[in-house]
Amino acid sequence: MRKIPSMFWVPLFLLSSSFSVALDYSVITPRDSLKDGDTLSSTDHVFQLGFFSFDQDEQPQHRFLCLWYKQPFAVVWVANRNNPLYGTSGFLNLSASGDLQLFDGEHRALWSSSSSSKATKPAKNPYLKINCTGNLLLGDDEEAVLWQSFDDPMNTILAGMKLGKNFKTQQEWSLTSWKTLKDPSTGEYTLSLDTRGLPQLILRKKGDPSYSYRLGSWNGLSFTGAPAMGRENTLFNYKFTSSAQEVNYSWTPRRDIVSRLVLNTTGKLQRFIQSKQHEWNLANTAPEDECDYYSICGAYAVFRSKVEYFERS
Ligand SMILES: *[C@@H]1O[C@H](CO)[C@@H](O)[C@H](O)[C@H]1NC(C)=O
Ligand SMILES: *[C@@H]1O[C@H](CO)[C@@H](O)[C@H](O)[C@H]1NC(C)=O
Ligand SMILES: *[C@@H]1O[C@H](CO)[C@@H](O)[C@H](O)[C@H]1NC(C)=O
Ligand SMILES: *[C@@H]1O[C@H](CO)[C@@H](O)[C@H](O)[C@H]1NC(C)=O
Repeated sequence: MRKIPSMFWVPLFLLSSSFSVALDYSVITPRDSLKDGDTLSSTDHVFQLGFFSFDQDEQPQHRFLCLWYKQPFAVVWVANRNNPLYGTSGFLNLSASGDLQLFDGEHRALWSSSSSSKATKPAKNPYLKINCTGNLLLGDDEEAVLWQSFDDPMNTILAGMKLGKNFKTQQEWSLTSWKTLKDPSTGEYTLSLDTRGLPQLILRKKGDPSYSYRLGSWNGLSFTGAPAMGRENTLFNYKFTSSAQEVNYSWTPRRDIVSRLVLNTTGKLQRFIQSKQHEWNLANTAPEDECDYYSICGAYAVFRSKVEYFERS
């Protein structure tokens, strides 16, 4: 057998040195660097952080640093929603001072958690992990939460996340729809908590002041729209909390079910529930019909269940 000329080995060698093995981290420290292809997983492997393209046909690919449900796949949070990476050269670093920084191949910063400038004291051994609730958590040895994805909602609220406003810090938590299914950049619709008077969820459309849907308010006991919520109320606890400092809304499942609420690109709030067959089933939608339109029907929310839910066995 003829010997393969040695020049053929050179490119092979280069290939193997530039394509390193993809890593799956459980925690990221300032020593690590999450490259495109690498992932960070929650300890139960339900959630994962990594790079993703929503449109596989685009060249070069628009890459986004995303947090997703692994099975069935669903993106729940995007870091650089308005600032895509082109190609697969991106990487995420955690600085010793406690900032998450997303870079492209030219070391240009595309996104940052901007946490160190807001911190009251210097970070001590910062780390990044995904909480089992799906919260991407930047913490440190002093058990401080330096930054968390639950404080930076995109188009999805998971159980335990909140919408609302802190009057002291002026921080707000609201949802903003994506532009299209293949483009997670800021779309037209927002869902926020209207804190004037009784707190209630309000859906608005950019550039259209006449467009506003109220998706439920709180009278101290239940939603004002509770009669219509029937079965939905047996599945989830909806909680409005109000104090001089902060008003917020959150939900948690009452049973062992997995669910996510998404403000979709056409301004509908969709409740998805995971089925036993590991599919996301659309359980209900709000606003559902004309009657949800605030100017027509008043402050009543309609949130009707369309399909059966599935409990995790
Ligand atoms: C990212 O982190 C890696 C590993 O700590 C380091 O080698 C690299 O210089 C960092 N890059 C930037 C731009 O901070
Ligand atoms: C992390 O998850 C646990 C259990 O789900 C929860 O009790 C805790 O509050 C979470 N911590 C943060 C900071 O989200
Ligand atoms: C909601 O606000 C209340 C104060 O009104 C606060 O005690 C509570 O921790 C907040 N909920 C979340 C999930 O942060
Ligand atoms: C948004 O949700 C509504 C109601 O579920 C649905 O009819 C519509 O197709 C959804 N839009 C997109 C783009 O998925």
